[in-house]
Amino acid sequence: MRLLTRLGLAAAFALTTLPAAAQDYPTKPITLIVPFAAGGPTDVISRIIGEHMSRTLGQQIVIENALGAGGTTASTRAKRAAPDGYTLITGHMGTHAASVALYPKLQYDPRTDFEPIGLIAGTPILVLAKKDFPAKDLKEFVAYVKANEAKLNNAHAGVGSVSFTTCLLLNSIMGVKPTTIPFQGTGPSMNALVGGQVDYMCDQIVNAVPQVLGGTIKAYAIATAERNPSLPDVPTTKEAGLPAFEASAWNALFAPKGTPKAVLDKLTDALGKALDDEAVRKRLLDLGSDIPGPDRRGPAALSALVKSEVDKWGKVIKEAGAEVN
Ligand code: MLT
Repeated sequence: MRLLTRLGLAAAFALTTLPAAAQDYPTKPITLIVPFAAGGPTDVISRIIGEHMSRTLGQQIVIENALGAGGTTASTRAKRAAPDGYTLITGHMGTHAASVALYPKLQYDPRTDFEPIGLIAGTPILVLAKKDFPAKDLKEFVAYVKANEAKLNNAHAGVGSVSFTTCLLLNSIMGVKPTTIPFQGTGPSMNALVGGQVDYMCDQIVNAVPQVLGGTIKAYAIATAERNPSLPDVPTTKEAGLPAFEASAWNALFAPKGTPKAVLDKLTDALGKALDDEAVRKRLLDLGSDIPGPDRRGPAALSALVKSEVDKWGKVIKEAGAEVN
């Protein structure tokens, strides 16, 4: 009887103390790893969402830009972090899908090594060029790139990034192999495009709206089925004569595998609250992103998205005949 009482007490103690850590979570600042340079799309989206989530969670979310290898170095680090909810990562279509096919020795599997917290935003892809690029529309752009591929530079954010993968597809459709110039993110490569040091790039819309509207770069097309309200004058690739180039990216929050469910639930809830907030929505929509509805944003939907995107981009990369590292 006394043994049973003791066992009962031990069980009750375990029930009240173990989940207590998760119940009290968070009790200190949370690090959100952004696997690209400051000022780029992943960074901008993470800061918008992180600010609101900090308020909901009552703890600061500290953004840490960790660079290298198209976002895969930081993703490996996030996979190896303690699964306690204090280290998270913003992954995207590149780091958490395309990189599987681009790096045969990738140190993580986005399908199994992370806990999905939720989808943040869809980010359509634009075909962009420096402002004095000698083409007035997408057809002329394609013709010019084909005729001048040897002297053109295509900027991107490293093998594994969205900009690398989507322009890999575009270049393969155009049948060209220009010189590609890697940056630590499309924040810095956008600066090079504005400065005219590189010729063209495929980038997520959130990085480009102010520059396109300000006329410091050219946008030839958006690679989605519909035009985007933030850039209504930019035609779709279908309208502009290159329907084969269809590409859209996404950004999402992940935690290391094994993070307690109670912690993940709090993070998913905080992300959902941020995505429902009018001011957050306005900032994301003004930058052209697509905000997922409740049915598309939770962990189950994100897990399914990652799996299907690994397959989809795996096929695209294989067909494009990419040289892998
Ligand atoms: C960035 O934040 O710099 C981008 O997401 C990079 C990319 O994947 O193209």
